[in-house]
Amino acid sequence: MRKLTLDDVDVRGERVLIRVDFNVPLDTTEDGSPRVEDDTRIRAALPTIRQVLDDGGKAVLISHLGRPGGQPDPDLSLACVGDHLGTLIEERVRFSSNTVGETVGEIVNGMGDGSVILLENTRFDAGEKSNDDTFAQALADLADVYVNDAFGTAHRAHASTAGVAEHVDVAVMGRLMEKELEALTRVRDHPEHPTVAILGGSKVSDKLGTIEALSETADHLLIGGAMSYTFLKALGREVGTSRFETDRLDTAESLYEQAGDTLHLPDDHVVAEAAEADVEPSVVNSISEDKMGLDIGPDTIDTYRNLILDASTVVWNGPMGVFEIDQFAEGTMAIANAVADATDGGAFSVVGGGDSVSALAQSGCTDRISHVSTGGGALLTFLEGAPLPGIEALTDA
Ligand code: 3PG
Repeated sequence: MRKLTLDDVDVRGERVLIRVDFNVPLDTTEDGSPRVEDDTRIRAALPTIRQVLDDGGKAVLISHLGRPGGQPDPDLSLACVGDHLGTLIEERVRFSSNTVGETVGEIVNGMGDGSVILLENTRFDAGEKSNDDTFAQALADLADVYVNDAFGTAHRAHASTAGVAEHVDVAVMGRLMEKELEALTRVRDHPEHPTVAILGGSKVSDKLGTIEALSETADHLLIGGAMSYTFLKALGREVGTSRFETDRLDTAESLYEQAGDTLHLPDDHVVAEAAEADVEPSVVNSISEDKMGLDIGPDTIDTYRNLILDASTVVWNGPMGVFEIDQFAEGTMAIANAVADATDGGAFSVVGGGDSVSALAQSGCTDRISHVSTGGGALLTFLEGAPLPGIEALTDA
């Protein structure tokens, strides 16, 4: 079902409650104050914010940050994110240390057209995650129009992503949400073949539905990262001390059988005694009992690269190894380069998930990818074909 977008509403003079995903990594400055470490998600929300301001709306921004467990946590305040946003849009961004309530209502009602305020972390209230009706109503009280631009959180049925939409007259998609859906629908529903999906990262359990769905639609499903050891263990191979999920061996075995020739596992591995920078790595086909797999090996890189270069559609989520340590980064960097080379050659590519996106940045290939998604879990849920509550809740077109 198509949903209304920003094109369908006139925001002039209206209080526009915009749900963004400002769940960004923070670090600290020399004087110990928090600052934004990676602002990709903030930049991605700028087209919506800019449009609302330019069209004379009053932009009221809400987001979660981290997992504070339903109570205030000063380390997870959005205040420094508001400061960062202000430098990006070159406008004063007000900050409210309350998320809802009478005082916030008065501030919002007094805002001038074309001004912007960021409210404190929605997850400081237990009602956010429980999708509590009273909290959703309190958010809706701040809105004439609700815009959801938080694709990264669209798989969560929370008060600020789903519940609030039931209490407002009109709930529309923001520009980022539209852009994400356009690119991801192309990959999931109308992919040009051959299609290659690359899945890595640590857990099979996080990606069961996605693996199942992609093994039906993709021509090749390339597996890497720690989750490959769960598959290999399930197939009776020796994986040494590699990380694997004991309780997913049966599932991995049946997924492997179901996928047939589509699913590829690494043939060789970079192994070492531990995932540390000062250990001596080696390349092996079979992992001895005192070693752990930490990256895909050169033969696997060759096989995967060739399949990626032949593809017309490529989707990638999850690293091939412990790429944060240089000597185990080669596999992930090679995949990043292969996806970028395939894109240069005319393929349509999508990369998503925090680790893959930072690996892309490390490889210097970000600008050569067709679409870098701001979603991790949301991307996997979408590819799986499961509904995204944050989108379902919006007003039908
Ligand atoms: C994400 O980073 O994947 C989203 O912001 C959702 O965060 P969550 O996994 O804490 O719900």
